[in-house]
Amino acid sequence: MTGGPAGDAVIRLSSAAYTYRGPPPVAALKPTSMVIYRGEHVAITGPSGSGKSTLLNLLGLLDKPTQGTIEIDGIDVGAASERERAAVRAHRIGFVFQSFHLLAYRTSVENVMLAQVYADEPRRRRRAAAMAALAEVGLDHRAHALPTALSGGERQRVAIARALVNRPAMLMCDEPTGNLDTATTLELTELLESLHRGGTTLVIITHNPTVAARAQRQIAIRDGALTEISPVTLPAPAGPPETPPAPGVPTTPPPPAGAPEPPSGTGAPGPVQPLPERQPPTPPEGPPPADRGPRGLDALGFPDE
Ligand SMILES: Nc1ncnc2c1ncn2[C@@H]1O[C@H](COP(=O)(O)OP(=O)(O)OP(=O)(O)O)[C@@H](O)[C@H]1O
Ligand SMILES: [Mg+2]
Repeated sequence: MTGGPAGDAVIRLSSAAYTYRGPPPVAALKPTSMVIYRGEHVAITGPSGSGKSTLLNLLGLLDKPTQGTIEIDGIDVGAASERERAAVRAHRIGFVFQSFHLLAYRTSVENVMLAQVYADEPRRRRRAAAMAALAEVGLDHRAHALPTALSGGERQRVAIARALVNRPAMLMCDEPTGNLDTATTLELTELLESLHRGGTTLVIITHNPTVAARAQRQIAIRDGALTEISPVTLPAPAGPPETPPAPGVPTTPPPPAGAPEPPSGTGAPGPVQPLPERQPPTPPEGPPPADRGPRGLDALGFPDE
């Protein structure tokens, strides 16, 4: 693994593409090469149907590229077995979705516990870890509430606590604020940013330009093709800078401009990469990607209690 100015490459796509088998086949992600560095905060924007969720599903190991490779920490996870991929996902990646995906008849703390991968830990300890994750999102006082008794923002906080409980290095968020009002969107964005300041690599798909503009790095996607957008320079706030990170908390890395790793797509603005010739869809290894509905707990392979 090569370190760039922003840190280590944590995810590397090399000519990775994804075609839904159909029929008819849908080339949802064209061959893409890009690197996400440890500790980055990346926003992915694009119109509906442009391939954002498809890309996030690859980055989060929910799907394998139908072409090209994906590496996490230098390991070719596209070639790994489903069991190995599930283990990487469970231990290293947390997911947050627009529609929360909480189980209706489980309390907040039970919903968080459902995600725990250290199932051999005593229940008391797992419950304590779930309570700590709820406290981190400011919701320990609602630990015993059912989702129906929570506001949308509170439900999403439970989902974030669930994503955090295994201490993942990366958080993959697909429209995390899509169902929330403006004030709650801001609160949730601040919460995600505080996790990023704590060292979590944060990838957020969003339709919300304000949420996207707060990321260090923005990637636009259109018709399955990625474009790196130069960091947006927001007007400097009057007065002292915003809350500095707490002492000892790693600061966010500088933008990885000039990272010595072509084709990383992290350099100057413009196309992420010259796209290779479009190739006919390659049948995926193993079972084909089924056409399916929105992903939920099942897709994440959360263990039953
Ligand atoms: N299971 C599937 N089978 C076939 N085609 C699919 C499937 N899921 C998505 N697609 C198609 O792949 C393309 C990209 O879809 P994707 O879900 O990645 O878009 P998106 O950018 O996340 O959109 P949105 O903003 O609406 O969530 C679209 O043309 C979509 O119709
Ligand atoms: Mg989507």
